[in-house]
Amino acid sequence: MSQPEPAQGPPPADGEPPAEAVRPLERGLALLRAMAVDPDPRTRPGDLARVTGLARATVDRIAATLVRLGYVRHEGRDLALTPQAAELGNAYLASSGLAAAVRPYAEALADRLDESVSVAVPDGDGVRFVVQATRRRAMAVAFRIGDLLPAERCAPGALFAAAWTDADWQAWRARRAREQGDTAFPALPLRRPRDAHASSEAEFADRVDIARTHGHSTDSGLIEPGLIAIAVPVLDGDGRIVCALSVVSHTSRHTPATLADIALGPARDTAAAMAAAIRPDAPGPAPRPHAPAADPRLKDELGAEYLQSLARGLDVLCALGTTRGPMTLADVARAAALPRATARRSLITLDYLGYAEPHGKGFALTPRVLDLGYARLAGLALPEVLLPHLTELVRTVGESASAAVLDGDDIRYIARVPTRRIMRVDITVGTRMPAALASMGRVLLAALPPAERADYLSRVRIEPRTPRSASTPAEVASAVDRAAADGYAQVDQELEEGLRSLSVPVRDADGHVVAAVNVAHHASRGTPDETRDEILPPLRLAAARAEADLRALGQWSRVR
Ligand code: PHB
Repeated sequence: MSQPEPAQGPPPADGEPPAEAVRPLERGLALLRAMAVDPDPRTRPGDLARVTGLARATVDRIAATLVRLGYVRHEGRDLALTPQAAELGNAYLASSGLAAAVRPYAEALADRLDESVSVAVPDGDGVRFVVQATRRRAMAVAFRIGDLLPAERCAPGALFAAAWTDADWQAWRARRAREQGDTAFPALPLRRPRDAHASSEAEFADRVDIARTHGHSTDSGLIEPGLIAIAVPVLDGDGRIVCALSVVSHTSRHTPATLADIALGPARDTAAAMAAAIRPDAPGPAPRPHAPAADPRLKDELGAEYLQSLARGLDVLCALGTTRGPMTLADVARAAALPRATARRSLITLDYLGYAEPHGKGFALTPRVLDLGYARLAGLALPEVLLPHLTELVRTVGESASAAVLDGDDIRYIARVPTRRIMRVDITVGTRMPAALASMGRVLLAALPPAERADYLSRVRIEPRTPRSASTPAEVASAVDRAAADGYAQVDQELEEGLRSLSVPVRDADGHVVAAVNVAHHASRGTPDETRDEILPPLRLAAARAEADLRALGQWSRVR
């Protein structure tokens, strides 16, 4: 952790925990949150002990359980959140239904205005993004789904604060008195001390009044110089504000006044369409079942290191994401495959910590669930998702592994993990190779729509590199057909004497091939059949794990 003090964030809970609170769940969530707000994506267990106030042995037990559940992984001596931890945020986003309902409208508005558009919900005295349709070109920060901003530092905040009670204003003042330079908001760009309290209470109160009177709110450099935004409210049937729609631009393109001229009308129309789409009776996406992770067998496997009540509590959290809207205790217990008494104690714990709240006869997740690492994971790029799996693959097979995408008629390496062998192929990220002669190229060509594949084959000029290289488009075409049929491609010394490579595709949440991954090795390792039989299973496993990550990340965000 690069900060002397932990980023506190909104105080997770007030007062003493209820007697029924599940301590391991409370501690597990504290650990996930501490990892999520650490500016460094890798955290040392000792630092986690320091910032959470837990004993080191306790941190190790919680970490062992979270690793076994797949939410955390070891990276050397450090711990890091895995993309599977996005499941928690996915549960909130699915149960709220808001993001699914409004996202298409936000995207259409972004296309129409050619500006970034976002949707945010109130979260305590903060503003939490649930949709981002980003078109940002200027050197401005881009926020991710799950990021939290202080209400006084963005356009939506004044709209939300227009509905605040005295108690809400008190909580806001208390937070401002407590925080030092907005450390509670890791999403804010680095602050210089002089703007630590850039907006005074009077200035914010003025903006809140304007928002109340005019029904919109403006951000002119509240986050950073140059960044401007205009926000309008989206109201429910009772006239209460549910979320705010923002159009975000930059002073290199607009003044606040010209942004209002072009964006305010379309934004109001979009907000009206969103209001209709979020009515409880509006059709929503089908709920997804949750496969409970808490498995009594893990107790035997990990012994005292396995905290079953933590695993069950996280199952309860995910179970709340299997239905749109609140769920009763009976429904939650059924969805988590747990006894009611167990589910109830977890719900009480989640409620106490602010991750769930009572709703009529049931409970619903709150946007604060997105604090458990969602924003960090939503910001991952494809190479970052692939790398840990390539590293694991290299450990298993003892050969170099890489990932590539198609770029014109070439493949371009986007990730690579070399081995320490003396004999190895020197390739770096960014290296290009002719797709026709590379195994990753053939896997990627096999995934092209037929017309594009035919177009490529009709224009490609093949320059053989070894006596074994394919030398005609017809030979490449049949190799690509084989790759399509087999689901892998093997290329034996066509690019370089002695170099053999085996590749499989990686598909995203929608089933589109987004990359190929390969293992490259010297031909002396064995016959082509032998090396294929040896390497294909771990290679496929690596691809399957990367695909599971892309599914977890791709539900509500786009992986870059
Ligand atoms: C954003 O979506 O990035 C955004 C929204 C409102 C602001 C600033 C940024 O005031």
